[in-house]
Amino acid sequence: MNDDLKVFSGGSNTPLAKEICDHIDIPLSRLTISRFSNDNLFVQIKESVREKDVFVVQSLTEPASDHIMGLMMILDALRSASARRITAVIPYYSYARSDKKDAPRISITGRLIADLLKTAGADRVLTMDLHADSVHGFFSMPVDHLTAVPTICDYFTQKLDLSQVVVVATDAGGAKRAGRFAKRLNTSMAIIDKRRVSDSEVKQGLVVGDVKDKDVIVFDDEISTGGTLVTTVNTLEQAGVRDIYVGATHPVLCGNAVENLSQSPITEIVVSNTVHIPEEKHFNGLRVLSTAFLFAQAIQRIHTGESVSALFK
Ligand code: R5P
Repeated sequence: MNDDLKVFSGGSNTPLAKEICDHIDIPLSRLTISRFSNDNLFVQIKESVREKDVFVVQSLTEPASDHIMGLMMILDALRSASARRITAVIPYYSYARSDKKDAPRISITGRLIADLLKTAGADRVLTMDLHADSVHGFFSMPVDHLTAVPTICDYFTQKLDLSQVVVVATDAGGAKRAGRFAKRLNTSMAIIDKRRVSDSEVKQGLVVGDVKDKDVIVFDDEISTGGTLVTTVNTLEQAGVRDIYVGATHPVLCGNAVENLSQSPITEIVVSNTVHIPEEKHFNGLRVLSTAFLFAQAIQRIHTGESVSALFK
């Protein structure tokens, strides 16, 4: 059944790609990426893909421009090598945050990357927890949009007495996302009034909802600089919460995130492995849950033409 299925890693999250292959029970397919002395990238697919159903795993993490360019070149090389169908598996689509024209003369880069993926040769996209559901509409090809919410919810269900828990959204924009999380856990929710001052600075004011003397789970799609979480935690402490837990799909952990979060009063931060966390960035209280089985199931269903949404029923 898996004879004509191949999975490649674009290099940004090879541990996840290997784990996906282990679940499917196929070897990770081989390619090389190197750099010429003039800084240009070079990509070569090291095995035949003629008439194969090919999946390329690449999260758009730091260095994002290199990882994006590398992915485009891999897609192009696969198409030239006569792959039957090519799926870009993008566990973390970072440019989804660039999803609207909220200032004059800016690029909606989430849409631009979607166009470039198509031009480079992708026939479909498989991704997880896009920053906004509307980003799905940027793609003019089929997109299967997975979520790590059930995985993170299951972890907290086993760990906590949920009768005393309130789920918290870090801002109004994340209320729908946190609402789905709260619904699955059958808890109430609260929303923080967040104002972003700059890329790395956020200001917060009110907590909308009842959190006093409750345990809280702050749920967000990603932790980038950790600025949002640090200010959220301050606000929640002032509001008199008990223990603070965090759930987030994408552990980007850039800038001073590790330093800030490892010193914060958060009891546990539960994330997924859509973004590879190098050993030196792990800290006490950080728990990483694997999404590999979910991606492997989705890949096998796409390969055999079965429903992917059925995975979440
Ligand atoms: C913003 O709208 C997102 O949902 C996250 O809250 C944000 O990306 C986190 O970024 P940072 O960790 O840099 O505050």
